[in-house]
Amino acid sequence: MQHRSDELRAPPSSLLIGHVGSFSRDPLGFLTSAAKDYGDIVRLRFGGRITWFISDPALIQQILVHDWRSFEKGTGLKRSKPLFGNGLLTSEGDTWRRQHNLIMPIFHRERVESYGAMMVSETESYTEPWRAGVTIDMLEATTSLTLRVVMRTLFNAAVDDSGAISEAVECAQAEFARSIPYIIMLPSWVPTPVTPRLRRAITRLDVSIQRLIESRRAEGRDHGDLLSLLLAAHDDDNQQGMNNKQLRDELLTLFLAGHETTALTLAWALMLVSQNPEVEARLVDEAKRVYGERLPQPADRAALVYTAAVVQEALRLYPPAWSVGREAIEDCELGDITVKRGNVAFFSQWVVHRDPRWYSDADKFIPDRWLDGSIAGNPRFAYFPFGGGPRVCMGSQFALMEAVLILSFMLARFRFELASDFVPALYPAITLRPLHPMRMTITARNK
Ligand code: HEM
Repeated sequence: MQHRSDELRAPPSSLLIGHVGSFSRDPLGFLTSAAKDYGDIVRLRFGGRITWFISDPALIQQILVHDWRSFEKGTGLKRSKPLFGNGLLTSEGDTWRRQHNLIMPIFHRERVESYGAMMVSETESYTEPWRAGVTIDMLEATTSLTLRVVMRTLFNAAVDDSGAISEAVECAQAEFARSIPYIIMLPSWVPTPVTPRLRRAITRLDVSIQRLIESRRAEGRDHGDLLSLLLAAHDDDNQQGMNNKQLRDELLTLFLAGHETTALTLAWALMLVSQNPEVEARLVDEAKRVYGERLPQPADRAALVYTAAVVQEALRLYPPAWSVGREAIEDCELGDITVKRGNVAFFSQWVVHRDPRWYSDADKFIPDRWLDGSIAGNPRFAYFPFGGGPRVCMGSQFALMEAVLILSFMLARFRFELASDFVPALYPAITLRPLHPMRMTITARNK
């Protein structure tokens, strides 16, 4: 690669705040044009922070997989520590390694299989009251549903038992979305203003979770859920378990990381399917062929090949985690540049997943591309909805199982008609959300 001067690889910017204005106005549009016009390595400046925006899959792989030790999590995640504490998503170094090793077995494939039946039974009871002709906000519905699933699998609790937890979580998420301008502009050592509302929400959350942990410790019984497994988890080296603070941080991390992203995957997938009757017909056919009148089971997942391709394609077009950031803790040579200590490396699933170099008709919803071999030659990091390397999403199998089973189940039972005035505008906050309510009218499916 030829060396180019930094000016050539940077879009025009304001002297004072750099690219904050253009980025904040339209993050996805700004990043897409930046990559198109200035190439795979673009030099951005947010306030005083140099941020290298990378769109070459090989360089993304270098950062996430080979040189991951030269980087820490980006400012966004660092700033969410008041909420996540030192959980898996935010911790670094030895703390992360230890917690990673303790928690990893909980997400092994066989273990995840065992949650599948619970996912389906929650979906069955959640959708039971749905009647033909009723209009729902699909994202609201999938969020309530995935919240139930995560509450069942984590705490073996019904959402109603823990209203305080879900309410506080929703408030905390909204507060964090509002603090995004601080997140991108100020260096991570400047504390994020935690509003009184968020502080109150976090306190409520802490009280509920501590109460739950203490009652479980006192009970000492295995409930067969994640919390039981976390309570029983021991470090191989020193046989120590987790203290209450660690447990709180990990439970909250899994709870928050584990439901909204999957809810978005399902909502975007259902929106895409509602616009593509042929895809819908094939999904329904597959459900009939694989499990017919009975409920889908975890073991059916392997046979739900087309449904899995639909989920993969939805994750490509609407990746719930639409960007990943890392801060260099030492200088790192990347292509023809040096990412200096303190610089940020930033890349976007939204941009790479829609890059015509890797996907023909990149903006089109074509689930078959996952089955016909047409993208088989793509570089590994042309698709990374779950990140990659040692810090890859721990819940990816959980999420995929959940998305495939729930999508198949819902479409086998119902048809969803998207409101004709729905505009698929995007709200890229922490996750990639629809700007407007995704209203869909339910119709029972003729058997
Ligand atoms: C479609 C759904 C999901 C998507 C798109 C997603 C995406 C991601 C991404 C991109 C990362 C890496 C972030 C980074 O590198 O900075 C991540 C990390 C993580 N995710 Fe997910 N996730 C999903 C579902 C889940 C679920 C269901 C769980 C748990 C029940 C989960 C738990 C985690 C955890 C614990 C990490 C941190 C792993 C570590 O750093 O060791 N995620 N996720």
